[in-house]
Amino acid sequence: MSYSPRCRLISAEDLDIVHDLAMQIWPKCYKRAIAPTQIDELASALFDLDRLEDAMDGGESFWVVRVGDNDVGFISARLDGAYIRISRLYVLPDYRGFGLGKLLVQAAQAHFGPAQHLAVLVNKDHDASVDFCLRAGFAIDREIATQVGQYGFTHYVMHKDLGA
Ligand SMILES: CC(C)(COP(=O)(O)OP(=O)(O)OC[C@H]1O[C@@H](n2cnc3c(N)ncnc32)[C@H](O)[C@@H]1OP(=O)(O)O)[C@@H](O)C(=O)NCCC(=O)NCCS
Repeated sequence: MSYSPRCRLISAEDLDIVHDLAMQIWPKCYKRAIAPTQIDELASALFDLDRLEDAMDGGESFWVVRVGDNDVGFISARLDGAYIRISRLYVLPDYRGFGLGKLLVQAAQAHFGPAQHLAVLVNKDHDASVDFCLRAGFAIDREIATQVGQYGFTHYVMHKDLGA
């Protein structure tokens, strides 16, 4: 990668960047589990601008990572007591494996300051994402049932002790 990546905290006016990235990334993540006729519609609903704005109003912060002139990934997270809870973490496929996911997690950690734990929800069937989290020092805490539209999934709740 030729340009140094930069993470920035965004405001509500820039949530369309998150929406656009999610529409490119999320359907690819779920293409094996969700019918092609429904996947874009579900992605639109999940990353609807009003929904993202509500999340921001409710205390969630969003960061976008840029490489050169391109926005290529994002994270959202909130502080919940001793936990930094990561809700969404997505990097465009072509930009994976360059440390951008890690950089986004670091941006959230730096913003919230010392916390005792990081928590993230990861689809149990997404081996690459589970491996990323294991590699980043998370451990599987438990499994929970989740629902996207009519589709049921199993997610791991993964925790990392920050020792703060
Ligand atoms: C998960 C995701 C954000 C990782 O982003 P990324 O930019 O590729 O990750 P990084 O390059 O920062 O990798 C960080 C570390 O994880 C490791 N890693 C990343 N993907 C991995 C994989 N598939 N298997 C094993 N290790 C992996 C890297 O080697 C690196 O290790 P290091 O710190 O020892 O060098 C990206 O794969 C993604 O967008 N996945 C789809 C969306 C998703 O499922 N998000 C939820 C995940 S919590």
